[in-house]
Amino acid sequence: MKIGVFDSGVGGLSVAKAIELALPNDQVVLREDSENLPYGNKTPQQLYDLVLPLLKSLVDEGCQVIVVACNTVTTTIIGQLRQTLTVPLVGIEPMIKPAALQTKSGIIAVCATPTTLGSQRYKWLKNEYATGVQVLEPDCSDWSTMIENNQINHGKIAERIESVCQKGADVIVLACTHYHWIQDTIDTIAGDRAVVIQPEDAIIAQLKRVIAQIV
Ligand code: DGL
Repeated sequence: MKIGVFDSGVGGLSVAKAIELALPNDQVVLREDSENLPYGNKTPQQLYDLVLPLLKSLVDEGCQVIVVACNTVTTTIIGQLRQTLTVPLVGIEPMIKPAALQTKSGIIAVCATPTTLGSQRYKWLKNEYATGVQVLEPDCSDWSTMIENNQINHGKIAERIESVCQKGADVIVLACTHYHWIQDTIDTIAGDRAVVIQPEDAIIAQLKRVIAQIV
């Protein structure tokens, strides 16, 4: 089966690699929109106009399922995209629920783009799953560009992660697929103060469920 994977940039590559490893008999077709990166400061309408034609091109190429490997797109426009496209979409959204279940200090940190943090879906996830949990949202607004261009400012990352750890966060959620590339760096900075979680295993589990319904 052809599986489409979409993101604004190298976040998609990280997810595509994980899928290829888990499903070696399927073909992964990766589409990135690095020309228009970052997505994380765009409006839902801007995102829709950019993303729809690219996902349609994946369908035209024969993809039977598409993984939207982008929290920014999922939390803003996945509903609209699902109404328009003929293939199932597997989305990625911030792991608020698992983080809230896992925290012992009652404080979690969510690293995400400004558009994700400002979305209704994100607010809904917090209200639904994180009542009574303090959710810290460090400023990661320039991280995706930094990672895409391979110009990682370790000092900046260390400052943000250090700050949430000092405030007591014991779970750090990577809620932008670009940040998967710096998971090891964040892990090292957090040390034994916090666990760092990201959704690749959950995406693959969901993708397998969706594929089982298609074949
Ligand atoms: N990788 C995307 C996400 O998961 C967005 C990165 C960007 O273009 O700002 O949100």
